[in-house]
Amino acid sequence: MINLEMKKRKGIILAGGLGTRLSPISLAISKQLMPVYDKPMIYYPLTTLMLADINDILLISSPDHLNSFKRLLGDGKSLGINIEYASQEKPQGIAQALIIGEKFLNGSPSVLILGDNLFHGNELLPKLESANLKKDGATIFAYPVSDPERYGVVYFNKSGKACSIEEKPSNPKSRFAITGIYFYDDTVISKAKKIKPSLRGELEISSINKLFLQESNLNVEIMGRGMAWLDTGTFDSLNEASNYIRALEKRQGLKIGSPEEVAWRKGWIKDSQLKELGNALKSSSYGKYLLELLKN
Ligand code: G1P
Repeated sequence: MINLEMKKRKGIILAGGLGTRLSPISLAISKQLMPVYDKPMIYYPLTTLMLADINDILLISSPDHLNSFKRLLGDGKSLGINIEYASQEKPQGIAQALIIGEKFLNGSPSVLILGDNLFHGNELLPKLESANLKKDGATIFAYPVSDPERYGVVYFNKSGKACSIEEKPSNPKSRFAITGIYFYDDTVISKAKKIKPSLRGELEISSINKLFLQESNLNVEIMGRGMAWLDTGTFDSLNEASNYIRALEKRQGLKIGSPEEVAWRKGWIKDSQLKELGNALKSSSYGKYLLELLKN
C-alpha cells in the first residue's frame, strides 16, 4: 500500500564553526554554548524549532564540543522531544549539515537552523507555522540589515519577487540578509550533493537556495520591523543580544528562549516533569522561573 501521508518535518541545528572572532573563549567552549544573558545560546534556536512544532532534532557540532551539548540537552526526553547528535569533522559549510543529516532525515522534510541565530518577535510563530505547512519547495526568511555584505543577500524585483541570491556580495543589491533558518522539502539532500564548494572552500547554503530559486520553488518571507534577528558573532554583538534579552525579560517577567517552558506549554511534558526540571536548577533565577510557571 502506498503511504500518502506526508512525513513530519524534522529539525537540524548546526552548532559548528570555530567561532574565531570570540577567541580566546572559543578555544575551550563552543560558541553556541556561550551565554546570551541567562541561558546558553543554543537554547534560543532549539526553542525556535520547538515553537515550529518540531520535536525530532539532530544537533551537529564539532567532535571537540559534542559531549558538552550532550551533557546539557541529553536525549531530549526530559523536554518530551528526541535529540540525536552527529559530528561535523571539519567546518566545510552549512550545506554539509544536510548531507550529515541524510540518514536522520530519512526522506522527511526538514528545517535547518544555525545554532547562533536568535529570533524574537510577535511575527515569529505565525511565520514558522505557515512555513511548516508548505509541503513543496523551500521557505527562507529575509531581514533588512545595515551591513548586508556580511550575509547571504536576496534581491527582489519591482513586483516583490525574489530574483537573485548572492553570498556575502561586496556590492549587495539589496539590504535583505538571509537569516539562518531554512525550511526544505525532501529534495534538499540531492541538491546538497550536487553543489560544489565555493571559493572559501565551503558548501554554501546559498547555493542550495539558488537551486530552489531556479526551480521557482523558493518562497522568501520577509521578517519585518517588529522582529529581532540578533547577531552573536562578536563580543559586542553578543553583549547587545544579552542586553536585549535581559531588558525584555526583566520588564515582562517572562523568559525568552526557554525550551522547558515551550515543552510544557505545548503539553509535551507534564507539570510534574516541569517541577523536576525547575527543582534541579532552583538555585538559579532560571530554575526559579520554571517553578513559578506552575503557580500561575
Ligand atoms: C551564514 C550563511 C549566510 C547567512 C548567515 C546567517 O553565514 O552563509 O548566507 O546569511 O549564515 O547567519 P556565515 O555564518 O557562514 O558567515
